[in-house]
Amino acid sequence: MKKILIAGSKGGNSKTSLSLCLAACLAQSYKVCLIDTDPQGSLVSFKDLLGIDLCEPSELKKNSYDVALIDTAPYLSNKLPDLLKQADYILLPCRPNVFDAVAIKTIISLLPPQKPCGIVLTQVQHRVNITDVLSVLQGYNVPILKQTMSYRVSYARAALQNIFETDDIKAQKEILSIVLDVFAQL
Ligand SMILES: Nc1ncnc2c1ncn2[C@@H]1O[C@H](COP(=O)(O)OP(=O)(O)O)[C@@H](O)[C@H]1O
Ligand SMILES: [Mg+2]
Repeated sequence: MKKILIAGSKGGNSKTSLSLCLAACLAQSYKVCLIDTDPQGSLVSFKDLLGIDLCEPSELKKNSYDVALIDTAPYLSNKLPDLLKQADYILLPCRPNVFDAVAIKTIISLLPPQKPCGIVLTQVQHRVNITDVLSVLQGYNVPILKQTMSYRVSYARAALQNIFETDDIKAQKEILSIVLDVFAQL
């Protein structure tokens, strides 16, 4: 079972939305489970709507799925070091502003050495210049995914409707491309 951890030390940077969308994408080809390690558990209330298995963290020891997507809390919880250790890949969402780009440094400092990981820019709006943010992120020696996640209404509704069951082809293409970027490093 491949374990993909979506982590970050700030709230609101699309961790939960990305976990959901990546799970929805991968569920088309693999046996996928979503694991919500955030005590606020935002995914739990949507369990029945998604058609994706929502599992307890204990599932990580069982190996009954092909892929586990692990959503995390928006702060550095005491569970985080173990999750970072167990993960096969760590995805770090970051909104395109310098505050988020600086804040991400905290979690980067906790990454186990040699662990496959990548930063993905999220909630990227058209015509917003991301050059300054990229230059901060490039200083961290962590790969930055070529594909970004745009700011899109269908993502904001991702917990209500699986984006792969909408007609938002652009969102589907973005998510697939993020999946391919991640899988290239697994
Ligand atoms: N790419 C996006 N486009 C538009 N809205 C988004 C996008 N990603 C997240 N959101 C919205 O932003 C808010 C925070 O996203 P969420 O995934 O809950 O972040 P986190 O889990 O990191 O706290 C939610 O209201 C969500 O619907
Ligand atoms: Mg969340």
